[in-house]
Amino acid sequence: MARIVAGVTSSHVPAIGAAIDNHRTGEPYWQRVFEGFERSKEWIAKVKPDVCIVVYNDHASAFSVEMIPTFALGTAAEFPIADEGWGPRPVPAVQGHPELAAHIAQSVILDEFDLTLCNKMEVDHGLTVPLNLMFGTPKQWPCPVIPLAVNVVMYPPPTGHRCFMLGRAIKKAIESYPKDLKVVIFGTGGMSHQISGQRAGLINSKFDHAFLDNLTKNPKKLTRMPHLEYMREAGAEGVEMVMWLIMRGALDDNVDEVYRFYTVPASNTAVGHIILANRTKASKKPASKKAVARKPATKIKRAAAGQKIQRIRS
Ligand SMILES: [Fe+2]
Repeated sequence: MARIVAGVTSSHVPAIGAAIDNHRTGEPYWQRVFEGFERSKEWIAKVKPDVCIVVYNDHASAFSVEMIPTFALGTAAEFPIADEGWGPRPVPAVQGHPELAAHIAQSVILDEFDLTLCNKMEVDHGLTVPLNLMFGTPKQWPCPVIPLAVNVVMYPPPTGHRCFMLGRAIKKAIESYPKDLKVVIFGTGGMSHQISGQRAGLINSKFDHAFLDNLTKNPKKLTRMPHLEYMREAGAEGVEMVMWLIMRGALDDNVDEVYRFYTVPASNTAVGHIILANRTKASKKPASKKAVARKPATKIKRAAAGQKIQRIRS
C-alpha cells in the first residue's frame, strides 16, 4: 500500500530560482536562504520518496486569465518547464506518475472534489523552486512528481477548509493505491508578502511564526481563517498559504515537526519552510516497559534525537 510519510512546505520565490540559475547562491544575501535548506536536503536524501506530490500555483504560465481551474492535477508522463519570459529555467523536465495520478483523480473526484485533469501542462517556478530547494540542481529530479495547481491568483481562491479537506481526500486516495510507494507531499507559496500596491513589501513575521506553529499543532484553527485575514495580515500574495493546508490535510492529525526554517527577506518575501513527518505505526503506540528495557540505550537516544525539532531563525 502507498503511504504519505511526510509533508514539506516551502516558499517558491522566483528570485530564488534566478539566484540558482545565475550561480549566485554563494553570495551573502542568498547564502542565508540556501543554508536553511541544507539539512532538508540531507533529510529528503535519506527518506528517498518514490513520488512527490507538489501543491503549487501556476503564475499565468500554463493557464492564462482566460481559463483558471481551481484545482488542476497533472496526469501527464512529463511536464516541460515553462518559459516565464526569460526562457525556460535550466532545470530538468519533471517526470510525472500517470498511474498514481489517475488513481488519485478517480478517488478524489468520486469523493466529490471536481479536479481539472491536465494531460499536458508546463510547470513554472511555483513548482521548480521548491524542488531545487529540497533536491538541489541534479541532472534529473530523483523521483516522479505529480503537480497539483491551485488557483490563488484570481478571486475567488478555494477556502482553507476546502484545501484541508482536499488533502484528506488525497490521503485516502494514496492509502488505497495498491503498490508500495513512499510519498512526500509539498505545499508551496507564501509566506507573508505583497508584490504591488501601497503595502508592497509587507512582511509580518509574527503572523508567519503563528501560522507555522498552528500548521503543526492546530491546523483546524487555520482552516477557519478567511481570505481577508490572510490578505490583511500576510499581504495580498500571502493567501498562497491556503495551499499549505492541502499538504497538512494529507498528513495524520498528530505529526512530528522535524525541521523549521524562517528567514526574511528573499526578494520581497518572507521565506518559511517546515517538514512534518507522520509518525510510524510503531511510534504511535506507547512502548511497553519490557520493550523499552530490551532496547539498547544508544538506539533510544538516536530515536529521540531524530524527533527533536531543529529550528533556525534569522
Ligand atoms: Fe507564487
